[in-house]
Amino acid sequence: MADEHVEEFDSRDLAQMRKKIASWFRNAQRDLPWRVERNAYRVWVSEIMLQQTTVQAVVPYFERFMKQFPTVEALAESEEADVLRLWEGLGYYSRARNLRTGAIQVCEQFNGQVPKQVDQLLEIKGIGRYTAGAIASFAYNQPAPILEANTLRLFVRLLAYDGDPKSAAGQRQLWALAERFASCRNPAKVNEALMELGALVCRVSAPQCDACPLKSSCRAFLSGRQEELPVLQKRIAVTRVVDACVAIQRKNKWLVRQRTSEERWAGMWDFPRFSVESVDHDGKLTPAISRRLHEEVRQTLLRDWNVTAEIHDDLMEVRHTVTRYRIRLLALIANWQEGSPSDGEIRWVTTQQLAELPLSVTARRIADWLHERHTS
Ligand code: ADE
Repeated sequence: MADEHVEEFDSRDLAQMRKKIASWFRNAQRDLPWRVERNAYRVWVSEIMLQQTTVQAVVPYFERFMKQFPTVEALAESEEADVLRLWEGLGYYSRARNLRTGAIQVCEQFNGQVPKQVDQLLEIKGIGRYTAGAIASFAYNQPAPILEANTLRLFVRLLAYDGDPKSAAGQRQLWALAERFASCRNPAKVNEALMELGALVCRVSAPQCDACPLKSSCRAFLSGRQEELPVLQKRIAVTRVVDACVAIQRKNKWLVRQRTSEERWAGMWDFPRFSVESVDHDGKLTPAISRRLHEEVRQTLLRDWNVTAEIHDDLMEVRHTVTRYRIRLLALIANWQEGSPSDGEIRWVTTQQLAELPLSVTARRIADWLHERHTS
């Protein structure tokens, strides 16, 4: 494999490619809320939300977030729980916590101005090389490179790079091409057009090469390998787990606990939740197995939560996936009898109060169910 693919394009090729994508972008770009009233704060928030999340899912979250926290100062003055509540359902909640910490940092360290320079942006919590490049180029028109999922795929195909794009050698070459693309008079346009082309045309499967303004320069297209590249990495094995989650009722209140910084969904509130062994990941929940589950849950609540409770119902079953975990979650309802957890951040709250707390997605489903049942 030739190591220096980037050299395959000279500066005239690059200039022509920039021109073609800029003209394509004028007609093809989507109307997205972070593309209007553009400023560094809006770019920053949108790019953090867009990490690991689709554009479609992000749009309503972005709009709600901007309504509540329209400026970096507003975010810096927020309560973490309010930020998490707005982020609920987007996942990867450390992004929200870091964004808030980053806003505080911008106010304290940079006088409330999101910096222009990539090296200063990189000092901010949660901002990596890609996000720094996106803010510097989109908001300030700095010639900063960007490499993320869309441009990575596009560059791999342009170069017909057949190594692992995540390897050190792959990253070096792909960033080098990103840098060459961005070294121009209008990096804001060029970078955004590259990303949009990756998202809309140079798609993961069934790339729309006929509609691509760069097809005559694309090494993968010219050799018919666009469907084979990028070379897929081995998938990490999934782990199957079974969890129980118990809504424990004491008069009109429910027991919730805030998840700690060492746990997944840190800062979010949840009903008591833990893994169980009496149910298989894929087996049927027969009455006998359900009885065993209740007994296991009762014992775990007593041992680990200092709560005696009588389990009286299977509420719902949810299957969900979090990173490499495939989770079967069994939600139960119980009546409190005695005791209360002595450590951790614990509250007994009404269903109305549940509406205000940031909850894990599954806890929100349970809370909605409880709310409906108790108000109907
Ligand atoms: N994916 C990541 N950043 C994006 C952006 N600014 N617009 C559209 N899709 C994106």
